[in-house]
Amino acid sequence: MSLHCHHDRGTPARVSTQKVTLTIDGAPVTVPVGTSVMHAAAEVGIDIPKLCATEHLEAFGSCRLCVVQVKDRRGFPASCTTLAEEGMEVSTESDALFRLRRGVMELYISDHPLDCLTCSANGNCELQDMAGRVGLREVRYVDGANHLAETADVSNPYFAYDPAKCIVCSRCVRACSDIQGTFALTTSERGFDSRITAAGGADFLSSECVSCGACVAACPTAALMEKSVIEQGQPQRSVTTTCAYCGVGCSLNAELQGEKLIRMVPDPNGGANHGHACVKGRFAWGYATHVDRITTPMIRLSIRDPWQPVSWEVAINHVAAEFKRLQGQYGAESIGSITSSRCSNEETYLVQKLTRAAFGVNNVDTCARVCHSPTGYGLKQTLGESAGTQDFDSVMQADVILLIGANPTDGHPVFGSRMKQRLRQGAKLIVADPRAIDLVDTPHVRAAHHLKLLPGTNVALINALAHVIVSEGLVDEYFVAERCEPQAFAKWRAFIADPRHAPEASAAVTGVPAVEVRAAARLYAGAGNGAIYYGLGVTEHSQGSTMVMGIANLAMATGNIGRPGVGVNPLRGQNNVQGSCDMGSFPHEFPGYRHVSDEITRKLFESAWGVPLSDEPGLRIPNMFDAALAGSFKGLYVQGEDIAQSDPNTQHVSAALESLECLVVQDIFLNETAKYAHVFLPGASFLEKDGTFTNAERRISRIRKVMRPLATYADWEATQMLSNALGYPMHYGHPSEIMDEIARLTPTFHGVSYARLDELGSIQWPCNEAHPDGTPTMHVDEFVRGKGRFMLTEYVATEERVNRRFPLLLTTGRILSQYNVGAQTRRTANTIWHPEDILELHPVDAEDRGVRDGDWVGVQSRAGDTVLRAKISPRMQPGVVYTTFHWPGSGANVVTTENSDWATNCPEYKVTAVQVARVEQPSAWQKEYAHFSEAQMALLKSEPEAGQFHAPA
Ligand code: SF4
Ligand code: SF4
Ligand code: SF4
Ligand code: FES
Repeated sequence: MSLHCHHDRGTPARVSTQKVTLTIDGAPVTVPVGTSVMHAAAEVGIDIPKLCATEHLEAFGSCRLCVVQVKDRRGFPASCTTLAEEGMEVSTESDALFRLRRGVMELYISDHPLDCLTCSANGNCELQDMAGRVGLREVRYVDGANHLAETADVSNPYFAYDPAKCIVCSRCVRACSDIQGTFALTTSERGFDSRITAAGGADFLSSECVSCGACVAACPTAALMEKSVIEQGQPQRSVTTTCAYCGVGCSLNAELQGEKLIRMVPDPNGGANHGHACVKGRFAWGYATHVDRITTPMIRLSIRDPWQPVSWEVAINHVAAEFKRLQGQYGAESIGSITSSRCSNEETYLVQKLTRAAFGVNNVDTCARVCHSPTGYGLKQTLGESAGTQDFDSVMQADVILLIGANPTDGHPVFGSRMKQRLRQGAKLIVADPRAIDLVDTPHVRAAHHLKLLPGTNVALINALAHVIVSEGLVDEYFVAERCEPQAFAKWRAFIADPRHAPEASAAVTGVPAVEVRAAARLYAGAGNGAIYYGLGVTEHSQGSTMVMGIANLAMATGNIGRPGVGVNPLRGQNNVQGSCDMGSFPHEFPGYRHVSDEITRKLFESAWGVPLSDEPGLRIPNMFDAALAGSFKGLYVQGEDIAQSDPNTQHVSAALESLECLVVQDIFLNETAKYAHVFLPGASFLEKDGTFTNAERRISRIRKVMRPLATYADWEATQMLSNALGYPMHYGHPSEIMDEIARLTPTFHGVSYARLDELGSIQWPCNEAHPDGTPTMHVDEFVRGKGRFMLTEYVATEERVNRRFPLLLTTGRILSQYNVGAQTRRTANTIWHPEDILELHPVDAEDRGVRDGDWVGVQSRAGDTVLRAKISPRMQPGVVYTTFHWPGSGANVVTTENSDWATNCPEYKVTAVQVARVEQPSAWQKEYAHFSEAQMALLKSEPEAGQFHAPA
């Protein structure tokens, strides 16, 4: 690719302690065994012509352009498929080779449109380069049969396939199978008529293709090409940044013309993604410049008033005055903040600093509360650190993967593809999930066990797995004796050995047959390397924290922690949910998970920040809502988070928000929460600012500004202005200065700086004197807390139970093309794949209720009801229904209850008892929502009465 100077060595690098030495055009070269001649030649700067080979894929040997001669061998072997051998003497140039290559190129070019000058790949086409390389000037076969009249497939919203430009190198086919693992492409026919087809449909859109773009990146010509490049031309410059969607944290190169983003290309050097991406990060970035962006601050006195655009100065001074008034009138504790897992580490740090230092309270919480707070708590209790133990690459050394309550191919697609690569190499998979997720049975991957448990019974299942390990002598006694607290282990062993935890006893609760549980436990414990990956299907339960501890217990008991290939790995939801937790977003913790009551830490921050700090934990989000309804909490600053849509029990949240006197929302769109706001501060997208995100592997990566903020200021600048207006001075000139402060004050970040990030690409914390380059694997020689601590995990059934009125269990999840509350993805062409949230139900449950595919069904729980379109799905088990939550009007959280995790208040989104019935019209809530929403949109457009807010003279 022209923007990336890195030279493609044609075949993947090999790792081996055994080396061979050969000569290529007389130059000696030593390479690991298994290296191709082509790769070896590249090592000494010899660039053998090639078309079907790329270092990102295994060689295929189809184009025959890369032929070479080897001394004492007959013929002209292809250098991409010929392995280097000891003593080999290779020549890469001769008259014979020249003629052969030119012949190959003539054949290609004779069947290729000769429109290089106007082609979208002009200047970035390997076919064009190779024609030049072999000195091709004229083509002889132009009158023969060709494919030039074939029509392009433009069905995919983001890229097109033009068969006329296809040279059938099969790079796309290999990318789809080897990298993405979807196997959507095949080479149809043979010989001359051979072309690429997308399997399972008439075109790309209707096929099994998941629009990851790997084939487009692999294509050497303009046959597969981004529509944005076809329409706007080749990009001119490239800036490396990090995807702002999910916790995989893919490194992407933003390719631009000036400040105009032309395409996002996954970065081959990205530590998390190694050159791969998914449909969201790669293609769904158009929201960043969507017309719905609000770029001027706005104020109103009441939520029934029209919005009035004002200057930044007026808006900031108004918020400062209001917050001071509220604290004067109702007390210091009457205000607080919510940080964002979408914003950068630096921005999150600043919001909690503003709250603690400028507001003088600890009322700061984060949206991570509603997803992975039990991970933080559970892992801290057992292992001593609130984060996953591995890097993503670790999965390539796992022998058995236990996947619990996570759906990586939809929720964490790039990691899902990695996992599939490992499974295709032979690793075994155990899936514990109420629903048959894709990984249970995808091309070339079939789970060894699918433990189809009932929602809400995780802890009973993990205890049953542990029981088998303890009672069948599968404990790694050496590891436990060396690494774990002996008393805690003895207590746990006695607890878990009790017959009530036997799989036979818990089968009635979990619904999983005991033989399956026993077999799965033996498989996991007997593996060389057993790795556990889990998601929100673990945390979002009344026993979320218990389950996380149960997972850690299982890993410790089997010695599966502290080396590559094993570990306990939460798949984090949002791009910066790990970072927002690390940065001190919780009301009881300073950055680095240090309790506010800890004297030494507090003194450290007091002296750095120059103010006294409270030693009392502040309010959590649900407490803020309760206090608001009770009349003691009046002002809230929400940065980049849509609590009105994402928090449980929507009606309760709306009532709480409506009772506030000053709600300040900072976001790129007028989100659901902003419809209750008095002040709107326009946010900046990740393309408009510098900063860092921290992904699920604790990997800190840079985001880099590629365009100026549409609303003048990045979010951290607005927070800083507010702090100054409140009389607490902040004077950061650049986010790197904020990171320097974080590093100074947080032991796990001591070695982090923008200079180091530029040097290393990314850094996995802890990064400090002991680990100057970061820490891919944690707890290697000892646990962060010293000895690992087994915790007792008694199963307590959730209060949310089925009965005759609510006989079904509703659980929730994500879909690949949409993202969380959907504010971004709903504003892109991704809606083509998921235009609405649907309710999946088992055919039996559907038949019992006379529900057909596509019917509207009412979903009623004890908390509320909503209406969704039904999809009959054999993925479900009878008695369990499922929906996603990407569209606000779907009201998934109108139905979910107020139950939450006992330790962290993480809502129990995954278990709601419901009834489902056919209906003809939207629910009362949906009608009310539509009405309210419409009214709020009208207030955005209507002309306010002039002169309510003026800049101070
Ligand atoms: S579409 Fe591109 S990558 Fe695929 S076979 Fe054709 S030229 Fe090769
Ligand atoms: S976009 Fe991805 S899934 Fe679709 S055909 Fe290409 S490689 Fe396969
Ligand atoms: S896997 Fe996640 S981080 Fe990577 S491109 Fe997709 S959404 Fe972005
Ligand atoms: S590059 Fe070796 S055969 Fe195509």
